[in-house]
Parts: sequence; C-alpha cells; structure tokens
Amino acid sequence: MNPDTSTHLRTVQCGHLRADNVGETVILCGWVAKRREHGDHLAFIDLRDHTGIIQCVVDGAADLRSEYVVRVTGVVRHRPEGTVNDHLDTGEVEVGDCSVEILASAEAPPFPLDERAADVDENIRLRYRYLDIRRPEMQRNLRTRAKVNTAIRQAMNSQGFVEIETPMLIASTPEGARDFVVPARSRPGSFYALPQSPQLFKQLCMVGGIDRYYQLARCFRDEDLRADRQFEFTQLDAEMSFASQADVIEAITKVIGHVVDSLTGEKLGEVPQIAWREAMDRYGSDKPDIRFGMELVELTDVFADTGFNAFKASSIKGLRHSGGSDVTTRSRLDDLTNTAKRWGAKGLVWMRVEAGEDGSVTLNSPVAKFLSDTEKSDLITRFDAQVGDILYLVADDWLSVCHVLGLLRLALGRPPVNEGGLHFLWVVDFPLFESVDPENGRPVPAHHPFTMPNEDDWDLLDGTGQELLQVRSQAYDLVLNGWELGSGSVRIHRSDIQSRILELLGIGEEEAHEKFGFLLDAFRYGAPPHAGFAFGVDRVVALLLGEENIREVIAFPKTQSGSDPLTGAPSTIDPAHLNELGLRLSPLTD
Ligand code: AMO
Ligand code: AMP
Repeated sequence: MNPDTSTHLRTVQCGHLRADNVGETVILCGWVAKRREHGDHLAFIDLRDHTGIIQCVVDGAADLRSEYVVRVTGVVRHRPEGTVNDHLDTGEVEVGDCSVEILASAEAPPFPLDERAADVDENIRLRYRYLDIRRPEMQRNLRTRAKVNTAIRQAMNSQGFVEIETPMLIASTPEGARDFVVPARSRPGSFYALPQSPQLFKQLCMVGGIDRYYQLARCFRDEDLRADRQFEFTQLDAEMSFASQADVIEAITKVIGHVVDSLTGEKLGEVPQIAWREAMDRYGSDKPDIRFGMELVELTDVFADTGFNAFKASSIKGLRHSGGSDVTTRSRLDDLTNTAKRWGAKGLVWMRVEAGEDGSVTLNSPVAKFLSDTEKSDLITRFDAQVGDILYLVADDWLSVCHVLGLLRLALGRPPVNEGGLHFLWVVDFPLFESVDPENGRPVPAHHPFTMPNEDDWDLLDGTGQELLQVRSQAYDLVLNGWELGSGSVRIHRSDIQSRILELLGIGEEEAHEKFGFLLDAFRYGAPPHAGFAFGVDRVVALLLGEENIREVIAFPKTQSGSDPLTGAPSTIDPAHLNELGLRLSPLTD
C-alpha cells in the first residue's frame, strides 16, 4: 500500500499510477525528466518524482525544459496499443488532456540525472548533491537507510532498550582516533571534543540504572578517510547491564536479523563465531571475508630443517591461487612482491605449478633450486597443488605472515562488493593487547582500556611482554563480507582490575583521573556488570545495497580529502570570531 501523500497541490504521486486509475482526473507535481515533441503541437513529458516516472501528453508545451518543476492536471488513460513501456512501473498508462502549470523554472543541470551520473566526477556530484539526490539510485539509498534505522529502532525497543541521547560537546573519549575539537567561548583556551563514540556516557547510563541503552549515535573521528570511513558517521550504539558477551551477541544478532529481514525478506539464521586466532590463522584477517575460500595453508613444519635462509623463520604459510598461472604475468608477480613488501613482508616467494615431462607435477620458481625434493613434494601435497595454480609463500613471525597473506588473499580472490550474498561472522576472543611497545615494554591495547580481560587469563596479567599478548579479552567484532561492521566488549566494572589495566598501559592515577576520572568516580557508587556494542550504520546500509563506498549512503558526505564541495567546509572564520574565542592563527610547526 502506498501511503496517502496527497496535499493541497497534488492528488497522487507519479510512480503510483496503474491501469486501475484509468478514468481518474489526477493532479501531479514533479520535475520534467524528459520531453519529446510529437508534431501536431503535442509533447510527451516524462514527469518524475521520487516514486517514479509517468508519461504526460501535453498540448503545446513550448516552455517546458528539463528539471522544470510543474503541476500537471489530466486524466489517466491506457496507452495506445503497441506503446506500452515495460521498463516503467507506470508503463501501461499515461495522463492525457493535460494542463500544465510551471511552479519553478530550472537551469540545465550540470550533469545528467540518470545512470550516466555514475561516470561524473564525484566532486561535481557532491558540489550539486541536491541534484544528485534526485537520481533514483540516491533516492533508493537514502530511503533504504531510513528503513534500516526504523528496523533497528523496532528491534531495540522490542528488546527493552531505551533510546537516550548523549551530548555532542564533551571531554575527549578514548577510541584511539584524533578528536575534533570545538573552542569554548566562555572559557578561552578550553575546548570541547566531539564524541568519537558515546562510550563513557553509555557506561554512565548503566551506573544510572538504565539497564539497556541504545542510540543511533553520530560519532566524529579525525582519521584518514577511506571507502568505509568518514569523519562523521552513525553507530547503532548499545549497552546492557547484568549481561554477558553471549547476551550482547544474541541481542545484536536479533537486530541485524530484523534489519536484513525487513529489507530483503531473508532470514539470517545463526551467525557463525570464530576465535580471533583462528580467523588470523585461516584467513589472515580479524575481519575475514568468508564469501570465498582460499584459506591460508600452514607450512612451518615443512621447512623445519630447511637450508633456504629466507625460510628459516618461526612461521611459514602459503596461499594457493587456483588456476592463477594463466592470468598472472611475470610483471604482475613482481608487482605483488613489491606490494607484499609494502605490507611489511620481507619477501614473497611464488611458484608456478607445472606439468613435468613424465606427467608429474613440478614447481617452477626462482627459489626452487634452494628447496629439497622432500620440501617440494610436501608443498605439492599440502597445497593440493594442481597444474596451472600459483603458490605464494611468506616466512616471518606468525602475525606478520598472517597479515601479509590475508591482504594477498583479498587482492587475489575477493569478489565485488555486490556479489556472493551477505556473510555475517562474529569474531570473538580478541587479544587484550595488540603489541608491546619495544621502547617502554608497555602493552598497546587492542580496544579501549575499559575492556574486560577473559577471566581464564587474569593470571597472565601479572606477566610481561609475550605473556601479556596471550591475554584474551571479552571483546567481539561483527564482520560482514570482510568489513568490520561493529565491535563491543564486556566492560571492566571492578576498580581493582581497572587499576591493574591502567597501570599496565602506563596510565598513571593522575592521568586516568584527568581523562576519565568521572567514570572511575561513578564506578565507586555501585556499577552493575555491563557489556555493549556498536555497529556502523553507514557500513551496514552500504553493504546491504552493494555499494563500494559509504559516501553513497550518506546524504551529504565529505570527499576523500575531507571537504564538502557543496558548502565549502572546512572554511576560515572571521578574525573577530577568532578573537572572541581567544584564538590566534599561527604557522604550523612539526
Ligand atoms: P568502534 O571504534 O569499533 O567501537 O566503532 C564501531 C563501529 O563504528 C563504525 N565506524 C565507522 N564508520 C564510518 N566511518 C568511520 N570513521 C568509522 N569508525 C568506526 C565501524 C565500527 O565497527 N565504543 C565502541 C563500541 C563499544 O565498545 O561498545 C566503538 O566505537 O562500523
Ligand atoms: P633473498 O634471500 O632476500 O635474496 O630472497 C630470495 C627470495 O626469497 C626472493 O624471491 C624473496 O622475495 C624471497 N623472500 C625473502 N625473504 C622472504 C620471506 N621472509 N618470506 C617469503 N619470501 C621471502
């Protein structure tokens, strides 16, 4: 059922007319999408609004041009035999005997507002975003986004979550990116930060007895922009009291399931879970794209006693590019080797799998001469290598090997974003610390410092270096087709554990108090155990729509370089305004 969108100016919308309406007198409003002359003073006007296009037959419409805004009164009739247009939902009918009132004239748009716009420079599209939004694709994207928001709210409300707005002008939140700051006029020299996420406020809501909080929260992070990253973006942000990791995963899976069902009618079913270590081991990524196989192959034991220096490493793994030989030139192999080095590899060994003279399988590689016959035959077995494949091998420490081969796997095998369906995955058991800083021996946290360590690993917190890297956290990510959709964790609500973590991170009491003393204070007044999650709405909508870039699902995004060609932001401000804020510009120093 179409909603009743009639107004004092129109009775019905363009895309809603069908054969059932034949004989009705209608008043339509919209933009002239196209106009064709027909001699005899007759003109055909394709009238467009967001619901679609309807053909109007107008007697003598000399002044009408593309994108004029018009009001058309006429009578719905069947199109004459042979002129039905199967490409249009309204294609069986047209509006005849039309009278036309021009509501606004229009200059010719700077780019065509149809599928040809896909080839237009993005800066131009963003400069005239209001025209770009008239296109059916953008209409579909923004309306889909609205449906996703509605589905999220339905699923959250039905599970007893309460929508609460948290402030935009705050003190810094530790999410790891740079803050956007706002100078405070009332206190020159002081600044608000825009929230990188509502993290601390939602935890305060738990102390406040809200029990289940959510928000479609706008977040701000000053970081390098990419296809899946904007300065400002929207999260479904949630927090639950008296809840475990399993409870959060269940609640969020329901939300995602409802979103997918509302949009596609598909039932999500169980979302698989994989431990971080296994994800790294098999896919070389903490956000594996499981739409395709090409799993990493373990080879460390094959080279345990190797004489080849490059393979004298603590870990060796490989990747089989099935049938890759035909499509991979020597210069492509050189490119891949250089790319792998840029990703941090010490080198990349490749081997073409070829047929030997006696019908056996042989390995053709610049390094083949350094390998023993046993090593070569073990490789063939381990990879299940077939003639025409290319094998890639990397030796290093385990994490570096996984990382490089994970990226190579994507470069060689990843399907386009709109292929292969939706493959959700929970990644669990993340390490608490990402690495140890070689300069001061301190662990670098993988998530924010309020993440609860896995209870089984608490003892390891008293260790150092490598031992600390073994500590698992109660943190979990939701992944969709190789994109990190969201992440969350069980929070530390006990001050003894929190102090230990802050101490390990080298955050002294004074610094902790300065940065998030208000949270630590709040915890002194009875904090329930709590856990939460946030996923990126922009990302989920983009993937549901098969869009490569989240800009396509944001009404007014920033360009890759962080500017807005429409409004000219960021822009300078008036010296008087600067003065009022107690600010003076000075040249940047390093
Ligand atoms: P995190 O930092 O992982 O977690 O962010 C959660 C999700 O937000 C999305 N996201 C972004 N989307 C677009 N542009 C960006 N620049 C951007 N940065 C992040 C991603 C990401 O997975 N407070 C924690 C959550 C928690 O622990 O409850 C947080 O913000 O989809
Ligand atoms: P080298 O011993 O540095 O001359 O390297 C010989 C070959 O092994 C070159 O093709 C390198 O790209 C490759 N190579 C070197 N180090 C590694 C490594 N750690 N992992 C995989 N290949 C490597």
